[in-house]
Amino acid sequence: MPIQAKKLSIHTGAEILKFDMAQPLDSASLRELESIFHERGMLVFHNQSMTEDQHVAFSRNFGDLEIHVLKQYLQPGHPEILLISNVVEDGKAVGVKDAGHYWHTDLSYLKIPSRCSILYAKEIPAPDGERTYGDTCFVNTAAAFEALDEQMQEKLLTLHAVHDYQGRYSKLQQANPGRADLTEEQKKQVPPVVHPVVRTHPFTGRKCIYVNEGFTTSIVGMPQQESDELLQFLYAHCTQEKFMYRHKWQVGDVLMWDNCTTQHLAIADYELPQRRLLHRTTLTGSAVF
Ligand code: SIN
Repeated sequence: MPIQAKKLSIHTGAEILKFDMAQPLDSASLRELESIFHERGMLVFHNQSMTEDQHVAFSRNFGDLEIHVLKQYLQPGHPEILLISNVVEDGKAVGVKDAGHYWHTDLSYLKIPSRCSILYAKEIPAPDGERTYGDTCFVNTAAAFEALDEQMQEKLLTLHAVHDYQGRYSKLQQANPGRADLTEEQKKQVPPVVHPVVRTHPFTGRKCIYVNEGFTTSIVGMPQQESDELLQFLYAHCTQEKFMYRHKWQVGDVLMWDNCTTQHLAIADYELPQRRLLHRTTLTGSAVF
């Protein structure tokens, strides 16, 4: 039976209907799902029930899995699963509390960044009537590039930018001094890297703006003020409402997003005793061009 999908906003997202992620995926269905995924940039699956092995097995359909540098937040027995959570047990944070509270694409700070991420909601703050908490917003950066005038597109196509995880980590430590220092070993895994400001999607060939507030620190060879101004312009341009889909989570939702053609932001508007716990797998990507 063909996969049924429903668009979620003009440029971003599709909901996949009547789909059980715990079941093995045949190659025709995989191709169909990938084609919807590449066109829409992110997928939503509701009411899923997967074991950790099934989450990992579904993810492997799309490539190899990353093991995150923050080893203390990997799921015991399943190092491919990163825990994102504000829950504290026995005085210890069970997951990354402040993951993605800024616009970013996952792992853009690696030389070979991630292809996509698959995030599974285990606990979500209860809504208060219509008001939900801990939503996640997505924008389509290919649509954002295509909306720029030709002169700006041509300029951006000549530029490269620095992405730096340690720069972001220092900012997170200032906001949350409880965050442990990165070890020398961790620092070695995440040196600053340089990527084109506009990257070509490896499957669709679309041009995508590839700088983000989370990890990009400067444009190579540009005076700092000019670089800051251009980056601020691009962040504001990409994150306009017209390119956006905002997801209101329910337990059992799984979101899968493309880390080339989307950026996302997790809204930090909840606090304990409102608990939020999600399991994320992150797929290895390919060289940026
Ligand atoms: C992330 O950036 O991967 C976290 C997203 C979320 O917690 O909604």
